Parts: sequence; C-alpha cells; structure tokens
Amino acid sequence: MARRQPAPYLAQVRYSIDRLATAARLALDLAWAKAGATAPNPAVGCVLLDAAGDIVAMAAHERAGTAHAEAAAIALCRAKGEIDRVHAAVVTLEPCSHTGRTPPCVDELLTTGAKIILIGAPDPHPRAPGRGFERLKAAGRRVLLFSDLEHKEAHDLARSAARLIEPFACAVTQARPFVTIKTALTADGSMIPPPGQKTFTSDISLIHAHTLRRRADAILTGSGSILADDPSFTVRKVPDHARKQRLLAILDRRHRVPEAYFERAREHGLQPLRYNSLEAAMDDLGARGVLEVLVEAGPTLRRAVITQGLWDEEIIFQQEKTAGAPDHMHIVRRDGTIPFSYESALSLDLLPCR
Ligand SMILES: NC(=O)c1ccc[n+]([C@@H]2O[C@H](COP(=O)([O-])OP(=O)(O)OC[C@H]3O[C@@H](n4cnc5c(N)ncnc54)[C@H](OP(=O)(O)O)[C@@H]3O)[C@@H](O)[C@H]2O)c1
Repeated sequence: MARRQPAPYLAQVRYSIDRLATAARLALDLAWAKAGATAPNPAVGCVLLDAAGDIVAMAAHERAGTAHAEAAAIALCRAKGEIDRVHAAVVTLEPCSHTGRTPPCVDELLTTGAKIILIGAPDPHPRAPGRGFERLKAAGRRVLLFSDLEHKEAHDLARSAARLIEPFACAVTQARPFVTIKTALTADGSMIPPPGQKTFTSDISLIHAHTLRRRADAILTGSGSILADDPSFTVRKVPDHARKQRLLAILDRRHRVPEAYFERAREHGLQPLRYNSLEAAMDDLGARGVLEVLVEAGPTLRRAVITQGLWDEEIIFQQEKTAGAPDHMHIVRRDGTIPFSYESALSLDLLPCR
C-alpha cells in the first residue's frame, strides 16, 4: 500500500496537522469568549506557533480601540523576546489590510517570519475583498483556510469561524444587526410561565440564556414582558465582559412601561431605549454599532419578529414532559441552513459557557 504523502504545507515542519487544528480550536475559543465585547469590531482570536508546533503566544481582540488579535499576539512575542520563534500564525479571521484605528494586521504579520498563515474565515467587509490573503501570498507566505486542513475537525472549525463572524458580516454587508431569539417553552409548548413563576427552565438552560445575553450588544423586549415580570436583563449566571454597556430596546408603542423601570435599568448598567416599531429599533441599533441583538420577548413580539423576517437564529429551550429530565434545546435558522446541533454548538463554543 502506498504511503500517504504529508500535506504540502507541512513539508518543511516537524509537527502534525493535529497541532494546527488544536491551535485553530484555541483561537476560536479565545475569540468566542470575546463575542459581545468587541462591537462594532468582530471578535477575533490568534495563536502563534513555533517550528515545533508549540505555542509562542496567543491573544484575542479585547474591544474596539485596542490591538487586533494578531497585533496583540505579536506584541506578546516581542515582549518575551521570542518573535524569531514565530513559524505559523493561526487566526480566526482574514487579517486586515487597511489602516483603521490600528495599523494593518497583514503588515504586522509580515514583520514576523511566519511561513504558514492559517485563517478561519475570509473578511466579509466589502472594502477590499481578499486583499489580506493576496498580500500575504504575494509576500511568499503559505496561506490556508481552516477548511483546507486535512483533518477530521476541519469542517466544524471552518463552520465555527464562519458563524463567529456572522454578526459582523450582517453589519458590514446589510447594515443591520444579527438577531438571535431566545425562547423558553413549557412541556406543553407555552411561553407563559406557571402562575407565580418568572422562569421555568432548568438551571443549565438559565446559564446558557445568560451566556447568550453576554454575547449580545442589545436585548430587545416588549412592554408585555416588562409589565408581567419586571425583568432586570442583567448577566448574572456567568461573568459579564468588563466595561460592557448593553442597550435594552423596549417595544412600547402605548408607553405603558413606567419611567421608574427605565431608571432601574440604568442603575443596572443598561441603556434603555423605547421604540414604536421593530424596523425603527433594528435600524437604530444597527446605526449604533450593535452586532448582535438578543430577543427576549413574550409570544406577541416574538411572533412579530418572526413574521417580519427580522431574525437570524432562534434558540429554544423546552421542558421535557418527564419530571427532572434535562430541557430539550435546539437551534432554528431563518435562512434554512442546518444549524450545529446544540451539543456541537456547545463543544465549538458557539454558546461558550464559562
Ligand atoms: N418563555 C419565554 O421565552 C418568555 C420570554 C419573555 C416573556 N415571556 C412571558 O410572556 C408574557 C408576556 O407576553 P407578551 O406577549 O405580552 O409580551 P411581549 O411580546 O414581550 O410584549 C408585547 C407587547 O409589545 C409591544 N409591541 C410593540 N411593537 C410591537 C410589534 N411590532 N408587535 C408586537 N408587539 C409589539 C406591544 O405593546 P404596545 O402595543 O404598547 O406597543 C405588545 O403588547 C409574560 O407572561 C412573560 O413571562 C416568556
């Protein structure tokens, strides 16, 4: 039987594709942990490897105005005096080639000896499509996508990178936020909690719900939910991003939500805003740089969001009929594409839970 040839991009190195796949996974973990912290910029992670496949440095983009992930990781290498060790750069998004608030990451990468640049997803920004790839290739670097890896996880890694960048892609190509609906259902399929209760899902579902909240730049709700439950919409079950100020969009055409509720929301660190229509809310949130909106509304507003096609993904937590059984959780996509199963979403940090 003929021996399998090593993948051409590994011809000159001593490590296996597993090392690159592990670094890709780690870069995704770093980036997903920052989803919700970086708007209007995308969440990005970067891992730098040496010629033996060992990690030299890793970093994520922390928030707008701070260094991009690649620049932050390279700065860490320089600070340690280890810049000459860099042999491969693994980054979840195509490095930028334009000067914004920070210099182009392509230029930063070209100051290193990185021979392999492994990229999760192309930059969806229409300003210079493919320019990052082209410049790196023109400089003689071997540029690959996660999907090019000859590895069993390549497909899932590429999907996670593509999903990670979706909110940013919505913002730069459609000038609108990515909209996630979070829905809790009783075993009978009702959204209304039993009398005397505000929630009815399991503790694990609540942790996931707060994780979704942390990922969002804005929460969208209706006056009905506020008048019924007086919800605080704060992130409590998981640690929130430092210095995060989330918007709270309240659909309240009849102005039934009292000023005292707005006051309390401000005290909780939220910025509450009242809207008369869903379109006005989505337009304004997009204009404010919101990347992801989490809809936490009752059945009336949820139905309106779905009917008007103003959503992307719905995450449903449904009680099982058997007492004590874990909630059934699933994801539905408006565009009809097949979502990750909830388990693979979790394992790929689509719903990072830490
Ligand atoms: N299971 C869950 O996931 C979940 C989540 C949240 C709440 N809930 C439950 O839902 C119940 C409240 O239900 P709800 O349906 O009254 O709450 P809702 O959907 O949050 O709020 C409905 C209100 O939103 C306002 N609204 C503004 N623009 C709208 C539009 N374009 N379309 C529809 N509504 C618009 C309307 O008031 P105006 O006419 O004054 O504008 C409407 O009465 C509570 O029992 C709460 O516990 C369940």
